[in-house]
Amino acid sequence: MKEDQDRFILRGQTLAFSGNPFEVGVEDAVDYRQDGAVVVEGGRIADVGAATDIIKQYTCAPVINYGDALIMAGFIDTHTHYPQVDIIGSNSQGLVDWLQKHTFPCEAQFDNKAVAENSAEFFLDQCFLNGITTASVYCTVHPQSAESFFEAATRRNVCMAAGKVCMDSNTPADLADTAQTAYDQSKALIERWHDEGRNQYAITPRFALTSSPAQLEALGGLWSEHPTALMQTHLSETKDEIARVLEQHPTYDSYFQVYQSFGLTGEGAIFGHCIHLSDDERRAIAVSGAAIAHCPTSNAFMGSGIFDLDATRRTAPEIIVSLASDVGAGVSFSMFATMRAAYEATRLHGVVLHPAEAFWMATCAGAKAMRLDDRLGNLVPGMDADLVVLDLKSNPLIARRVARAEDFFDVLFAQIIMADDRAVKETYVAGNIVYQRAQAST
Ligand code: GUN
Ligand code: ZN
Repeated sequence: MKEDQDRFILRGQTLAFSGNPFEVGVEDAVDYRQDGAVVVEGGRIADVGAATDIIKQYTCAPVINYGDALIMAGFIDTHTHYPQVDIIGSNSQGLVDWLQKHTFPCEAQFDNKAVAENSAEFFLDQCFLNGITTASVYCTVHPQSAESFFEAATRRNVCMAAGKVCMDSNTPADLADTAQTAYDQSKALIERWHDEGRNQYAITPRFALTSSPAQLEALGGLWSEHPTALMQTHLSETKDEIARVLEQHPTYDSYFQVYQSFGLTGEGAIFGHCIHLSDDERRAIAVSGAAIAHCPTSNAFMGSGIFDLDATRRTAPEIIVSLASDVGAGVSFSMFATMRAAYEATRLHGVVLHPAEAFWMATCAGAKAMRLDDRLGNLVPGMDADLVVLDLKSNPLIARRVARAEDFFDVLFAQIIMADDRAVKETYVAGNIVYQRAQAST
């Protein structure tokens, strides 16, 4: 029967979340099986359970046995810039200098569709190699940069959000749009791509320094006309940026209030960085239902500051904090590097991030930030089979460390501290293998 033909079983260790570890505690939040199985059918997760039960129940389905590798939902990167893959690790004096010296000249190349196509393909390859199956992606100001990205994502049937960057102020002439063209081009892209297949559109004002009030207003209006689209921007990344924003908008009390006053917050809004927020801003973000994309490798590399997860959660416990690479100010596609940097950021504020919390931020929280948590981000029947299979002993040093691990959480912790892309054995998108490590390391 057809149903049996496209049904298969993945067997290995399995990690799912039955709750938010920040709310219910790590023990109650984590659903871990040492010998588990995931049934995949028609690109979706059909069942999850103990391997012996599942294999007994689905007798005709072929089994792919991953041994002691870990099967979990693919990683979700809630803030990243695909056009910046070529400027990762470019040195500067800080954000504004980096934008002017490296970013804007690089993004100016994306008026050429061939450049955009090449970078989009390379970017998606890097996502899959690192087990990232969904991301919220900034393109450039050129609408064709978003076209190229969505075309590449569509070819791979991967669920990606993306948006043309809008910027009409403090911007080189060759990268400037206007309030009207930002609105018109973003609207046309929404109509073409939002909810087309697995694609999601994210309305993308770059940040308050590069968008005039007229542009912010136009984009707030556009979002109210297309409320199921996402909205992404940068907020409170450096102190210098905040001072400049408040200088440009003297009637507002805070940076966040600028976005809020133009209708640019609420569920489906993702604010990158949020390092220097006041308590009032944190509470206002949480009340609006918007999410933070914590970009720890970028924050450290650029010297922007150390995001205080604990203070943020203490001020606004319900706030959604997801994880993000922020490539190319962020220095790695690896979610292990990102989780490690997030761990270090909490450490520098005197708090210890639990590995279950970090893995939750890298999956479920990202899905929640992107309003996709009913569809993906967890090992739950009915969700899309966007999965990663992790080798938990991906090099000899990790293997020795894991051999001494106290428990499963300690194994996860060792991955955060020591693993890199070599830990990603296979990546599945909608039930298809899109990346396979040729030879698992010993
Ligand atoms: N703020 C405005 N644009 C950018 C960008 O491209 N990267 C980062 N990290 N911050 C920004
Ligand atoms: Zn960014």
